Amino acid sequence: MKKIIVTGGTGYIGSHTVVELIESGFEVVILDNLSNSNIDVLDGIKKITGIKPEFYKVDLADSSETDKISDVLKNADGIIHFAAYKAVGESVKYPLKYYKNNLNSLINILENMQKYSVKNLIFSSSCTVYGQPKELPVTEQSPILKADSPYGNTKQISEEIISDTIKTSEKLKAISLRYFNPIGAHESAEIGELPLGVPDNLIPYITQTAAGIREQLSIFGSDYNTPDGTAIRDYIHVSDLAKAHIAALKRLISNKNKTNSEVFNIGAGKGNTVLEVVKTFEEVTGVKLNYQIVDRRQGDIEKIWANADLAQKELIWETEKSLAEALLSAWNWEKKYRGIK
Ligand code: WQD
Repeated sequence: MKKIIVTGGTGYIGSHTVVELIESGFEVVILDNLSNSNIDVLDGIKKITGIKPEFYKVDLADSSETDKISDVLKNADGIIHFAAYKAVGESVKYPLKYYKNNLNSLINILENMQKYSVKNLIFSSSCTVYGQPKELPVTEQSPILKADSPYGNTKQISEEIISDTIKTSEKLKAISLRYFNPIGAHESAEIGELPLGVPDNLIPYITQTAAGIREQLSIFGSDYNTPDGTAIRDYIHVSDLAKAHIAALKRLISNKNKTNSEVFNIGAGKGNTVLEVVKTFEEVTGVKLNYQIVDRRQGDIEKIWANADLAQKELIWETEKSLAEALLSAWNWEKKYRGIK
């Protein structure tokens, strides 16, 4: 059985990917510092798969700590690296926290991969590397514009670190997956998105408003150059995103990669405005949302959605779930987590 290390594996996207890895027959070891996730996620993974993955609490940004887990790394068949801070707004307030954690963690992982001859890396990148694209949909060849936030910059720099490292070690191979907007929860509602504190992201704010935890949703801006004035994003069900990691990992393990450093857009390939998301949520759940339109949020781009053709062609992967299914799954998770009938 092939062993895969998942850093950040108790996080939102990490935990959903761990479920898909186990269900695809992989052995999984999770490394996480629990700074933005809860260890109870392991119980949710066990309820879904019947297996509670091996877990090590470790701060990957601290090289002395990563040395402690050398036995774990030694005979891994691959690493999926999620562990990073990811709140765009917070990164503007605390840039050094983001550069230190996100870059040091990746550098420690790469050094250990070289040290222990771990060949295959899947890296969690982001559509934020594109900034506000001039042409839509974005392809992998779309220009990488100056990042709008330190968070986005850490993703751009990380991709360059990976690419430069691979040039020096022919054994190392990597695929960077540029995520668009992951939303929703596993169909079992045993795992889902669990933001600590007030949610930054739209969907958890919507479900918490619907659950009565938040008074009112604020929609940031209605003066964008879009059909209804609200911003457009490419929302992708987190389980579809998780499955893309399995497809990418299998591509590397079976040596089907065309170069040793590949990049794929992982999005639904369509854009929806914030108001369309709100209306779809109300339709699929029957819950009327209390919202107000307020000023734009600083750092937001107007519109982005993916051209995901390359992933469909090369990874033999495509999204299976609709926006409506994703929103309903998010609501089912919120209700289950809060004990709402
Ligand atoms: C979506 C839309 C907001 C909250 C995300 C992640 C970031 C990165 C990129 C992975 C925007 C609007 C939001 C609210 C709102 N992901 N909104 N009211 O900004 O696209 O960034 O994707 O690398 O980590 O944050 O996602 O969910 O914050 O916002 O109107 O209360 O919803 O203005 O148009 P975003 P988001």
